[in-house]
Amino acid sequence: MGPTKMSISRLCYRSALTFTEMTLSLEEELERIVATARANNARTGLRGALIMNGTTFFQVLEGPADALEATFSRIEADRRHHDLTVIDRRTDVVTLLPNAPLFFCDTLDAHDGVLASLAMPIMQAPELVSHDDLISVSVFASARLSRSHEVSRRLSA
Ligand SMILES: Cc1cc2nc3c(=O)[nH]c(=O)nc-3n(C[C@H](O)[C@H](O)[C@H](O)COP(=O)(O)O)c2cc1C
Repeated sequence: MGPTKMSISRLCYRSALTFTEMTLSLEEELERIVATARANNARTGLRGALIMNGTTFFQVLEGPADALEATFSRIEADRRHHDLTVIDRRTDVVTLLPNAPLFFCDTLDAHDGVLASLAMPIMQAPELVSHDDLISVSVFASARLSRSHEVSRRLSA
């Protein structure tokens, strides 16, 4: 048997927030979702990006196929969102997302002009958003965010 090529699975979907299932404030519900997702993904070896655009969620998840399938089954059954539509599903030989369990960003965060322009396709035509649109926003916005954290750490040191 020859050497086995490592392969990772990647899934992109969009869904709509379900307000009636939110028992706390939207902000607190989001904090909870993100905290649970980060803890689980760190344990199962998944990387993710969750992008919010108004009441629409976009998520990219990548990692080992079995962990991805198990996690996606839980996500699909989650009543805090509905109308889940898979945008893209593929295997790849490399990971594209930053090495962190879940990157979160809100496209309506008007303080960030670069994020706003990268998120333009998402904001203008959510139903046409592609795998590449989601990867671009996730990778560039997360790099920018970690750099701004670095700068503020340096400034406050
Ligand atoms: C938009 C959205 C994204 C989510 N993303 C993840 C995720 O990346 N990983 C994860 O484990 N759970 C995610 N969840 C939560 C799952 O649906 C589910 O509540 C959770 O995995 C259950 O974890 P627990 O059994 O540890 O409570 C997400 C939920 C929503 C609504």
